[in-house]
Amino acid sequence: MEALIVLKSYISLPVVAGALLVGFPYCVSLTAQWLYGWPNKPGYKKYIEALKPRRIYRMTRVVLEMFKYLQYSKLFFQWKLWYNNDQTNFVKLDFYLPPSTGHSDANPTPVVVFVYGGAWGSGDRSMYCLLALQMAKELNASVICPDYSIYPKGNTLSMIQDISDSLLWVRQNGHAFKVDQDNIILIGHSAGAHLCVLTTLFLINTVEELFIETSRQRELVAAIKGIIGLSGVYNIMDHYEHEKTRGVEYVSTMHKAMDGLNNFAYYSPTSILKKMKEDQLKQVPPVALLHGTNDIVVPVESSLKLSELLASLSVKMSLYLIPKLNHTDMVTDLMAADRHFYNILYDFLKQEFCTFLNKLY
Ligand SMILES: *[C@@H]1O[C@H](CO)[C@@H](O)[C@H](O)[C@H]1NC(C)=O
Ligand SMILES: *[C@@H]1O[C@H](CO)[C@@H](O)[C@H](O)[C@H]1NC(C)=O
Repeated sequence: MEALIVLKSYISLPVVAGALLVGFPYCVSLTAQWLYGWPNKPGYKKYIEALKPRRIYRMTRVVLEMFKYLQYSKLFFQWKLWYNNDQTNFVKLDFYLPPSTGHSDANPTPVVVFVYGGAWGSGDRSMYCLLALQMAKELNASVICPDYSIYPKGNTLSMIQDISDSLLWVRQNGHAFKVDQDNIILIGHSAGAHLCVLTTLFLINTVEELFIETSRQRELVAAIKGIIGLSGVYNIMDHYEHEKTRGVEYVSTMHKAMDGLNNFAYYSPTSILKKMKEDQLKQVPPVALLHGTNDIVVPVESSLKLSELLASLSVKMSLYLIPKLNHTDMVTDLMAADRHFYNILYDFLKQEFCTFLNKLY
């Protein structure tokens, strides 16, 4: 009885608050590392690395930032309401027609293939139904939103295979849907922007692992009239360094999806471009890069560096830096007309889209 009273008087409010303030971040960070990956250190050293206050502090900041995503609940319910029939396993892409193609004598429309992001380990096509609908309307184009084998279902190579298979599907079946299969535009966000550029470069290099005949790969490259990268990652090593500053390099899916650090150069558009010969560089379609200056998930330097490289290699490119826009705005604000950056983003997209297709804006 006496011991209990003594104990009670010791556990004062500041102590409890302090324990919570320290204990909670440690619990959350350790659970995240237990679930998603310990630091890459031998034996017990990984736990020492995992427990370092600096890592815990940085990870806690990332976790707290995630609470901000609660504000997107309205959009979440909007898309769930619109899209609620995703039961089958074998459908791999969704197809959205522009409003004008209702009647049978309509001309074929150019086609956008939209590749979503999600750090190579999350996301699915249903999340982008609102975006695809708006994009089809604003660009007067058909929009295709494919799923791809995100980690752990597949690695980066499987993702590129899936995206090139989707492109092949457009080439082979597009006519049945009034799609102009010679005018394909790739648009990707974040990891999706990385995959759009990477897929195109792999096709130009006629990489055997895509399991597509060389002549078919050439046809595909010729049909891709432009690439638009939204808040994209284009150099994996640079991005890994950025992940380190946020303390998330081990829990992140990136290095796992790339099968380790050894493959970072192989999967980095910037490294591939630097090794390309002149005749290959000539086949690279024009690239437009959009990036928000408030992006902390993928810093704006990523697009800056790629644009500088493309310019130095004489590949047509344009770069749009959008003040105050962050990583999430870049897609959520393409989903509904009442969102803050809607007009500015679609203005840039339309401008580039028309330039790619040699149309007047
Ligand atoms: C949209 O594109 C179709 C097919 O290219 C064309 O027939 C139609 O006139 C276009 N509509 C608008 C509003 O530009
Ligand atoms: C992104 O910026 C908007 C303002 O443009 C802000 O409301 C939102 O909280 C930010 N989102 C995240 C995830 O930081």
